[in-house]
Amino acid sequence: YFKAAIFDLDGVIADTARFHFLAWQSIADDEGFSLPAVVDDRVKGVDRMASLNIVLEYAGRTYSDAEKEALAAQKNERYVKLIAGLTPADLLPGAQLLLDRLRVDGIGIGLASASRNALPVLKALGIFEHFNTIADANYISHPKPHPEIFLTAADGLGVSPADCLGFEDAEAGITAIKAAGMTAVGVGSAELLREADDIVSDLTAFDYDRYFRTLI
Ligand code: BG6
Ligand code: MG
Repeated sequence: YFKAAIFDLDGVIADTARFHFLAWQSIADDEGFSLPAVVDDRVKGVDRMASLNIVLEYAGRTYSDAEKEALAAQKNERYVKLIAGLTPADLLPGAQLLLDRLRVDGIGIGLASASRNALPVLKALGIFEHFNTIADANYISHPKPHPEIFLTAADGLGVSPADCLGFEDAEAGITAIKAAGMTAVGVGSAELLREADDIVSDLTAFDYDRYFRTLI
């Protein structure tokens, strides 16, 4: 059995991946180019600047560093507006029940999110108190697919990586979990998350008893 669960946030617990994509689309609109749907998957798990660089591949011109800084800031302003109305209804299916069960069973719960907006999102969703440790982009130097963020969360929980189960909806995230020496549950498309040890379409399909010991 596993001793801890470490979660990605956007697209695993929170229905916010679509807001990241919407914000990028509005930036592309203003700049006069359009984004193919595949960008939605390409920016999953990828930090803000690296996501912008992916978006600008479709722009048809190069941007200076100063322009990029401005666009990244604008995207964030729009994203922050989009998440301003988040409530517990924006939790993805199965997330609340899973977090509740883990807490009751005394399993460590960690967050490993590439988003600098992770804290306000957790608070708006009403699940901040469920987390024993939070690793987000503000505290790490190597973004996913580097394992640092998952290792930081395991460290915060005082659990060895081999005893941690990681949850991710992004290819880069699954790679990070595996590189950390953890077991990976992919949430979403089996095609995209091939490297995962187990795949569920959403958290309602997660087989809890296979991974965690139930105490009550
Ligand atoms: C990740 C998202 O969780 O956070 C990415 O999957 C996003 O799409 C990244 O780019 C960074 O988010 P933020 O809020 O710091 O711009
Ligand atoms: Mg994600």
